Amino acid sequence: MTLPFHGMSGDEVLAQIDEYKAADVRWREGRAFSLVYSAGDEVQAVAEAAYRALGAENGLNTDAFPSLRRIQQEVVDIAAVWLRAGPEAAGFLTSGGTESLLMAVKAARERGRKERGITHPNVVLPTSAHAAFEKGCYYFGVESRRVPVRDDWRADVAAMEAALDENTVLVVGSAPQYPQGVIDPIPEIAALAAARDINCHVDACIGGVTLTYMRMLGDDVPPWDFSVPGVTSISVDLHKYGYTAKGASVILHSDKRRRAYQTFVTDNWLGGLYGSSAMLGSKSGGPWAAAWAVMHHLGDEGYLRLTKAARLAAVQLADAVDATPELQLVARPDATLVSFRGATGADLDIFAVADSLWQKGWYVDRQGPPSSLHCTVNAIHEGRIDAFVADLRVSIAEVMSSVTNGARGAYGTID
Ligand SMILES: Cc1ncc(COP(=O)(O)O)c(C=O)c1O
Repeated sequence: MTLPFHGMSGDEVLAQIDEYKAADVRWREGRAFSLVYSAGDEVQAVAEAAYRALGAENGLNTDAFPSLRRIQQEVVDIAAVWLRAGPEAAGFLTSGGTESLLMAVKAARERGRKERGITHPNVVLPTSAHAAFEKGCYYFGVESRRVPVRDDWRADVAAMEAALDENTVLVVGSAPQYPQGVIDPIPEIAALAAARDINCHVDACIGGVTLTYMRMLGDDVPPWDFSVPGVTSISVDLHKYGYTAKGASVILHSDKRRRAYQTFVTDNWLGGLYGSSAMLGSKSGGPWAAAWAVMHHLGDEGYLRLTKAARLAAVQLADAVDATPELQLVARPDATLVSFRGATGADLDIFAVADSLWQKGWYVDRQGPPSSLHCTVNAIHEGRIDAFVADLRVSIAEVMSSVTNGARGAYGTID
């Protein structure tokens, strides 16, 4: 494509984008079990209006935009209450879970280098921890020591302990981990860190909001937050179960000293003193404003309602999978992530099932090992699980009676 010499009108470009979107998954109708989290049109409208209000403003330097400094501080303060952090806790907004996890790795590496002179740092983490840790290790020159999980998919703490050595700067647990949706034994993992005075990051990117409100709803949630001794940082994504616009996550450290290892400062160029809190330089105030607005619009009451809806839908889906002879749950979900595969002996190509679902307009994630499908169930799925399960069963029947193989797919985009 080349740029037109004469520009198009605003209406024309928007109409063109609408045309481009025609084949996209219809997430507003609850057809996406991945990538988009929706609390409905009204919340979406609040997010979009707030995004517009501060979209051009730049969070790189909040001196010029006290609004953004205030918004960041207030959002981080609210997250600190969710995560039951102490008064010393300090954090930043980032662009998402990946950036928060990158910063957890970077902060641990810096701390190891400055406080203990570690030049060949490593991170000990379960095989279930998110791929963004791998990216962080790669970007920041840290060795990733992946430790196989237990049969119940939770972190194997004894095996993690065996993998630690004097160069370990960080141990990781997830609440819950993405692939199978179960919560790692955070107190035991954090105890490994506390005994050695190293960092322990809890990845609550996907679970931080949900687990907070599940506890308030009276569910039995295992310990995972700053109330656990030894936890030094936690990430929670607002653009997931906070139901706000893409581009918003919080990374919170137990104190300012630990947070200081996250920031980057230099004056080694001709442009003066440069400081930045995370990976990005210029960053739109839009996602920050949208996060602040949606959080205040929903309030605790809204999050309780949405969490209850998402959790009930997840349990309903898990029960339906259990009741489908050709399928089996990979794990019973601790929160709202449901993963399932072909039942032992069913000889079902589970990725072909995903292909067939996509032809029917449903988007689910494919993952492995083991080869399985993954549904990120959220509030938009309330009242829609029956329709999904009906199509899922039709897809299974179609796949069982055909010989096509399904595509493995990828979690992210490769091309
Ligand atoms: C547990 C967990 N951590 C981190 C991430 C990465 O988040 P993002 O896609 O916002 O970068 C995800 C994404 O689903 C996740 O589930």
